[in-house]
Amino acid sequence: MATEALIYFSSRSGNCHRFVKKLGLPATRLPIGRQENSLIATKPYVLLLPTYGGGGLKGAVPKEVIQFLNIEANRSLIRGVIAAGNTNFGDAYAIAGDIVAQKCRIPYLYRFELLGTEKDVQSVKQGLQIFWQRTDN
Ligand SMILES: Cc1cc2nc3c(=O)[nH]c(=O)nc-3n(C[C@H](O)[C@H](O)[C@H](O)COP(=O)(O)O)c2cc1C
Repeated sequence: MATEALIYFSSRSGNCHRFVKKLGLPATRLPIGRQENSLIATKPYVLLLPTYGGGGLKGAVPKEVIQFLNIEANRSLIRGVIAAGNTNFGDAYAIAGDIVAQKCRIPYLYRFELLGTEKDVQSVKQGLQIFWQRTDN
């Protein structure tokens, strides 16, 4: 399956999905639930994901994202991460982004709360444009 430069996960509550729609950029959504065949990235991408650890590290990165990143080809093409969360979780706010950035050794580009504000949308849009111009793929 061909992929776009933005790959994201969003659970049934769909906050990240709504955020990505507002970006108006081509994006591929990771399916919900365990998949027989994982999506395979075919070009460099930025990953966008929500945090689900309930305030801890365990479970913070959704299992669908772990399955996707367990594939070497997918890890080799990730260039940056954007994470969502809820500031009610304090130190664990959007911590999924820290975990992915550390594991994959890529920059943590941006974090936003819930479905993001209009300012978040504009910042990510502009930021991604600049990032892709600068990133040597
Ligand atoms: C069970 C559960 C655990 C969560 N744990 C965290 C957390 O540890 N840190 C955080 O920042 N947000 C946490 N959140 C908030 C979600 O990341 C936030 O609601 C996000 O917008 C969900 O995105 P989605 O609707 O696209 O799945 C949690 C939400 C739920 C429902």
